[in-house]
Amino acid sequence: MKTTEIQMNNITDISETLLIPLYCRARETQSKNPLINDRKAVEITEKLNNVFATSTSPLHRRLAKGKLRRSANKKFTVFFAIRTRKFDRYCQEFLSRTPNGVIVELGCGLSSRFSRIDNGAVEWYDLDLPEVIAIRKQFFQETARSHMIASSVFDFQWMEQIAKTKNTILFIAEGLLMYLCEDDVKSLVLEIQHRFPGCELVCEVESEFIINVLKKERWRKKFQQDYHFGPDVTMHFGIQDGKDFEHWGQGIRFLDEWTIFDDHEKKLGWMNLFAFSKRLRKAQWIVHYQLQSL
Ligand SMILES: C[S@@+](CC[C@H](N)C(=O)[O-])C[C@H]1O[C@@H](n2cnc3c(N)ncnc32)[C@H](O)[C@@H]1O
Repeated sequence: MKTTEIQMNNITDISETLLIPLYCRARETQSKNPLINDRKAVEITEKLNNVFATSTSPLHRRLAKGKLRRSANKKFTVFFAIRTRKFDRYCQEFLSRTPNGVIVELGCGLSSRFSRIDNGAVEWYDLDLPEVIAIRKQFFQETARSHMIASSVFDFQWMEQIAKTKNTILFIAEGLLMYLCEDDVKSLVLEIQHRFPGCELVCEVESEFIINVLKKERWRKKFQQDYHFGPDVTMHFGIQDGKDFEHWGQGIRFLDEWTIFDDHEKKLGWMNLFAFSKRLRKAQWIVHYQLQSL
């Protein structure tokens, strides 16, 4: 594909957040002793760089120059790579129990997880907003077992596309839920439970503490400026405890949780000290649930 052919139309501020984990995965893949291998992210970012170099968007121009964030660039890349590696491991562990399982990646952005995880039997669905799937289709192709769904998570019709499956389903959400409102996240989780009883959900969550900090204009602006995000990008949804989802209804079972610091990853360097602070350790973490039938 020629770089000039890449179209990124109507992408919202919220959807542009996908560029940060994408560039981090590419950067980590190209680093010494990489924690992940995401050649597809490298390929995509190289093509995007040619377009972004002359973009009117400060975020795009900075990305094209290799600047991912105003500070802590190197560790920050590692942070995202560890998160991605953990989501990969959750998928691999699910498929080791359920080789014919179904995995639905909600808010997939330009993730190439399917190619890393494919065991030859998994049925895979990548779901994101239509404008993101339009970009995604310029880099990925659907196959007999990997499908794309162009839909908001809140337009529950998308669930009909996977309703025919009899196999166990794992829903994953990496970097999605914090950008949504609590009532919406709750109705999404309850609808998934209602339609797919017995499924599992692995999702990244933000701490309520961070959400409250971001309610203050000064911190919200700092967050947006750090990443060169647009004014619509803010985080809304956070929890205090991994078990908080259980209070939303019967049958929501907390299975386990994991923080970035649990891997004691050497590449994280001084950031491993965050493990000793309750607030920083769980500023953002991953929670695993089973959504049982009522
Ligand atoms: C921070 S990005 C994460 C992308 C990807 N999971 C990754 O880690 O590379 C958030 C993603 O959520 C998607 N998103 C936001 N709101 C959504 C919605 N209502 N329905 C589906 N996807 C949504 C955005 O388009 C974006 O791709």
